[in-house]
Amino acid sequence: MKVLLLGGTGQLGTALQSLLRGECLAPSHADCPLADPDALRRLCDQFGPEVILNAAAYNRVDLAESEPDAAWRVNALGPRLLATEADRLGATLVHISTDHVFAGPPGPSVPGSSLAHPGWRESDPPSPASVYAVTKLAGEHFVRAASPRHLVVRTCGLYGPARSPGKGNFVTTMLRLGRERGEVRVVDDQVCTPTSAADLAASLVALLHHSQGGLFHMTNSGQTSWCEFAREIFRQSGDAVRVVPISTAQFAAPARRPAHSVLACDRLTAVLGQPPRDWRIALGDYLSTLRTGGS
Ligand SMILES: NC(=O)c1ccc[n+]([C@@H]2O[C@H](COP(=O)([O-])OP(=O)(O)OC[C@H]3O[C@@H](n4cnc5c(N)ncnc54)[C@H](OP(=O)(O)O)[C@@H]3O)[C@@H](O)[C@H]2O)c1
Repeated sequence: MKVLLLGGTGQLGTALQSLLRGECLAPSHADCPLADPDALRRLCDQFGPEVILNAAAYNRVDLAESEPDAAWRVNALGPRLLATEADRLGATLVHISTDHVFAGPPGPSVPGSSLAHPGWRESDPPSPASVYAVTKLAGEHFVRAASPRHLVVRTCGLYGPARSPGKGNFVTTMLRLGRERGEVRVVDDQVCTPTSAADLAASLVALLHHSQGGLFHMTNSGQTSWCEFAREIFRQSGDAVRVVPISTAQFAAPARRPAHSVLACDRLTAVLGQPPRDWRIALGDYLSTLRTGGS
């Protein structure tokens, strides 16, 4: 399978490159900026991919509030261009999206408190509430409209090693702040599913071999608040760090984030024949990687 991978230096892209068998071309950001039609067409004509995998994105959720044009170019117009190219080549387009498309309260069809919410399903109507989320949702729509063979995969709370220099994630940031300060303040009223980039990449590759199309939710299993996620990081790392719960209002980030963005992965489980691993087990593997010199 000939795969053209965009965003190969990011967390997911790095994990994908270590898994993809066969021919995989992963141009750098500089060699193929998303939304540059000429560079993309040249690459597509030279390489002739059967699959275009888009792991590239404008991911700076807070900065996007003041840079909406840049976010739109990468997250919406980029995927539109990829979809047009994929259609022209008869290739499959795999595009990654986000839990941030669900910013509303858990749907009315789901009884009980938000913590008991089993997760948003692919059929639930999105409710994006930030520039990042709106641009990512627009990207989904462009892909679904322009590329007959597509997989749109929403994920959540991603962490993993990345080849891009200086790239951190929630886990490495917590470890660093914990060691520097002995105390971290983390929001306790946003519930998500932390997801290992390595597990996401493995599920994506497995899904590709099942020749399925359409929209999929893909995370690790389980759910937690960001504050409990931080506590679990320190419990497993053995670092004695005080974790202070704070509210979203106290954190006062520029962009609004989902209060509850757990994604139900039933469709994925049905296709792959097993549910994703528990997020705590996947986290343990990543912390082991960090101990042995990964990033
Ligand atoms: N991180 C999360 O918590 C999270 C949560 C939910 C969904 N997602 C989605 O999951 C996907 C993968 O995320 P990730 O965390 O692996 O991303 P990441 O680590 O931030 O990597 C992003 C990649 O995109 C490249 N890139 C950025 N702008 C580009 C442009 N204009 N043209 C070409 N390449 C560009 C980056 O290259 P350079 O580094 O060289 O600029 C990097 O390789 C994204 O679609 C993201 O929206 C992420």
